[in-house]
Amino acid sequence: MVSDPELIRDMNIKDFHVFVNRHGYSFNDPLNDRSLTNLMGDEWKTMRSIISPTFSSGKMRSMHPIIIDCVHRLDNYLETKAMAGGDVEMKKTMGSLTMDVIASCAFGTKIDTYNDHKTSEFIVNAKQVFCGGVWRLWVFMALVKISPKLFEWTGFQIIDPSVQKFFNTAITSIVSRRKSEKVRQRDYLQLMIDAQNRKNKDTDDQDVDDLDENIYGKWQNYGKIETTETSDINNSNKSESTGMSDADIIANSFLFLMAAYETSGALLSFLFYNLALNEKCQQKLYEEVNGLDGMYDYESVSKMPYLEACIAETLRLQPPLPATHRHASQEYTLDCNWLTIPKGMMVIFDIYALHHNPEYYPNPEVWDPERFMPENRDQLTPYTYMPFGTGPRNCVGMRKAIGS
Ligand code: HEM
Repeated sequence: MVSDPELIRDMNIKDFHVFVNRHGYSFNDPLNDRSLTNLMGDEWKTMRSIISPTFSSGKMRSMHPIIIDCVHRLDNYLETKAMAGGDVEMKKTMGSLTMDVIASCAFGTKIDTYNDHKTSEFIVNAKQVFCGGVWRLWVFMALVKISPKLFEWTGFQIIDPSVQKFFNTAITSIVSRRKSEKVRQRDYLQLMIDAQNRKNKDTDDQDVDDLDENIYGKWQNYGKIETTETSDINNSNKSESTGMSDADIIANSFLFLMAAYETSGALLSFLFYNLALNEKCQQKLYEEVNGLDGMYDYESVSKMPYLEACIAETLRLQPPLPATHRHASQEYTLDCNWLTIPKGMMVIFDIYALHHNPEYYPNPEVWDPERFMPENRDQLTPYTYMPFGTGPRNCVGMRKAIGS
């Protein structure tokens, strides 16, 4: 388990070629095996170079109206609740917002997440992935712990086969409808269908790296990696043809649900929690939001320094994923020479420990957005802030998650 910034940099960036994969086994089902998070080696590189551009700022801008529609639905819900009086359970409400965004952007489907959660097949199956299958997760962890080979041999599947069947059928029918339709949608699903039809990468997709480097680091886009060891990755990124199969589209739409639902829902609920406990900050944010005068277009929303600082500080104090991990593909001796990591060992990067270390964040348990205001950002120690991981295999959906 690693929580030293220099080792994190070495293993995630300088020697990334040793730590490309998260694990070394198959999940026994295509929804998991073909998803970007679980692909390995060259297959991962190819898929990442297809998926990355679908999260470029240009693509996010084109999807912005869809997200604003979802926010309007949240607005209506909150207004109705406020009129009726009583409590609003924010975790559930933010889960509904996130589910609405996922259904609209990744599945091209409109659902009433606030009122329809017991009858909508989509919601019932999506919830089954997270809540209904906890025992499956335990069995999976136990089997993998004993031996990954044993897990593969049993053929055990983490996702309930009936849930897999539902998403397979639903996404397949949406994709084939899309392909035969003349009208193009502006969602993530359409971007993947477009990627499937494209032979080479578009050059106008290269604007993926304009997030604040002082906060999130400069490795969001692995196309920018400059070390000799990873130069082969850069080259494959330039000329690869986009061989995305229907199974890949299905797996990666599903991945959107897996990767975005809990993480984004947790970020939003903790953000509201922190604001509720810090009224002065709440007022300051309220004034910044009000300053937009209802003009919530993409450009305005992405230029709100205090909102950005509140989000960044929430991700520091309550990182939705407290650790990342990599699988050593070969024996690796640390630069300092006192430790050798054997081939096949799992290395865990402890995000939570970094974010709560007083050496890097004085009074680490205090929620203080000022740490991330533009004038203070250069005080951050590199590689001590990684809510989205770091290096070429960091979170591909980071831009989507923070809405810029
Ligand atoms: C607050 C919200 C989110 C947080 C905190 C978060 C965090 C993370 C982290 C820590 C990783 C692992 C990075 C590493 O191993 O170095 C990751 C990977 C990933 N995330 Fe996110 N994530 C969020 C939202 C999203 C969203 C909205 C999407 C997609 C729409 C997404 C898609 C992915 C994918 C596909 C990967 C795997 C990337 C790869 O293997 O190449 N995430 N995320």
